[in-house]
Amino acid sequence: MDTSTTVPDTVQVVVRIRPLSERELAKGYESVIVQPNPPEPRLIARNQEEFTFTEVFGPEVDQLEVYERSVRAIVLKLLEGFNVSILAYGQTGSGKTYTIGTSFAGSRLKINVGILPRALVDIFTHVNAKQRGAREEAATGNGTRYRVFCSFMELYQDHVYDLLSHRNRYERLLGIREDVGGGVFVPGLTELAVSTAEEAFRWLQHGAGCRATAPTSMNKESNRSHTIFTVIVRACLGTDDERVTISKLHFVDLAGSERAKKSRASGDRLRECIQINKGLLALGNVISALANHAKSTRNNTTYVSYRDSKLTRLLQNSLGGNSITLMLACVSPASYNLEETLSTLRYADRALAIRNKPSKSTPSASLDSGSSSGSDELERLTKTVSRLRLENTQLRRRISAELRPAVGVAGMAGGKHLLAQNRLLHGQLQASLEESTRIELRASIAENALGRLEPLVCTELSDSEFQTPDESESPEELRRKCLNVLLRYRTEYEALRQRPTAQQRSTLHKI
Ligand SMILES: Nc1ncnc2c1ncn2[C@@H]1O[C@H](COP(=O)(O)OP(=O)(O)O)[C@@H](O)[C@H]1O
Ligand SMILES: [Mg+2]
Repeated sequence: MDTSTTVPDTVQVVVRIRPLSERELAKGYESVIVQPNPPEPRLIARNQEEFTFTEVFGPEVDQLEVYERSVRAIVLKLLEGFNVSILAYGQTGSGKTYTIGTSFAGSRLKINVGILPRALVDIFTHVNAKQRGAREEAATGNGTRYRVFCSFMELYQDHVYDLLSHRNRYERLLGIREDVGGGVFVPGLTELAVSTAEEAFRWLQHGAGCRATAPTSMNKESNRSHTIFTVIVRACLGTDDERVTISKLHFVDLAGSERAKKSRASGDRLRECIQINKGLLALGNVISALANHAKSTRNNTTYVSYRDSKLTRLLQNSLGGNSITLMLACVSPASYNLEETLSTLRYADRALAIRNKPSKSTPSASLDSGSSSGSDELERLTKTVSRLRLENTQLRRRISAELRPAVGVAGMAGGKHLLAQNRLLHGQLQASLEESTRIELRASIAENALGRLEPLVCTELSDSEFQTPDESESPEELRRKCLNVLLRYRTEYEALRQRPTAQQRSTLHKI
């Protein structure tokens, strides 16, 4: 495939035959799939059915070869503005997760690492090269700047979970929405900006650790869910982010189809098995409908039942939409899996006929303008979220800035209160002092008066005592004298009362 120009308009179907496992070899199982003339993309299953695909990789083909021969070219279409979907389909234990590399651990591309980590390395190598070029063009304002994001979701028991969310499992549940253009998107799905492949690896590993897996008799680490890891590239043309192109690359690791009887599933495993098979059945129906639609030249009204399951809704754009799609059909060569292998191959054969209409995402003129496509809608919402975040931060800053003086005001109010209390207490102290001064003065007046009255009375009485009753004045005379004494006492007392108090004296002094 010419990597720079060719855009396949049918779904590309690559079959990968895994090697017989040690357990299968030990049990003496034989391979029932042969490639009559490798590297021709043909295979024959149990000498009966022959199939031809875009590529057929035998058990001896390693991860790097699969990536380089079938994947790299379409991955790089992402940077040209195309949406790309890569789906791994097949029976449980046939090598889907191995081929995609969803369970990738570590930070280096070792020999057995799948296509997803390899694609991430390639994407960043190309983005960085383009960025360098853009920096050189930046002076003229023509450079394109790229930003890469990733999201990771899981479809488990027909529920969508955000695998990159920091929330707990229950709060990771998301819905599926349709925009006005009929596109499907998952509102609220975490999209994380990543600037290196290593950073994206870490998120891939983090999300993969949150998947629902359980051992089954077919695969001891079987994925009980369908997972979609998406790389989103935002290409901003010009200097002011006005023209933005968004393209997406989905890696879909489907849960394996599995016969409940063969896998001896029961309880939770059986319920999962039923849901998985239901989704895959709906996917099969969609593939058949699209294939029939493509084959029939007259019948343009084929009904495609995307709405039958969340899986088919999520893959709507990848199947029969504007995406470049690669289906990796993984099969086991072991004789005891022949039925499932044939079923996968027939499925894959139908998918070969699906025609897509790959088209480059058109740059949105203005991010705020209403748009009909899902990615534009997402872009608009992302911008709204960032604007709201910014507003939130600014408001927080304002509130904390306004709170600080408020704390000062509260302190001042406390101080004023204390001052008022102080003034009140001071007044009370002053009044008490005045009262005590007044009492003191009255006591001193009384003492003074007594001091003056005593000698007077004594003198009068002693004068009269020394007189004989015969010689003494009449009682009338004595009463008159007593009255005189009392009058003098009163006059004296009144004179004392007229004297100013200590406070009056101090006030007069101040005036
Ligand atoms: N091409 C391959 N080469 C070597 N081992 C493989 C290959 N494909 C699958 N396997 C092994 O087979 C087992 C099941 O593969 P896995 O990818 O988990 O299956 P699935 O995801 O389809 O259920 C794993 O142990 C995996 O390492
Ligand atoms: Mg798997």
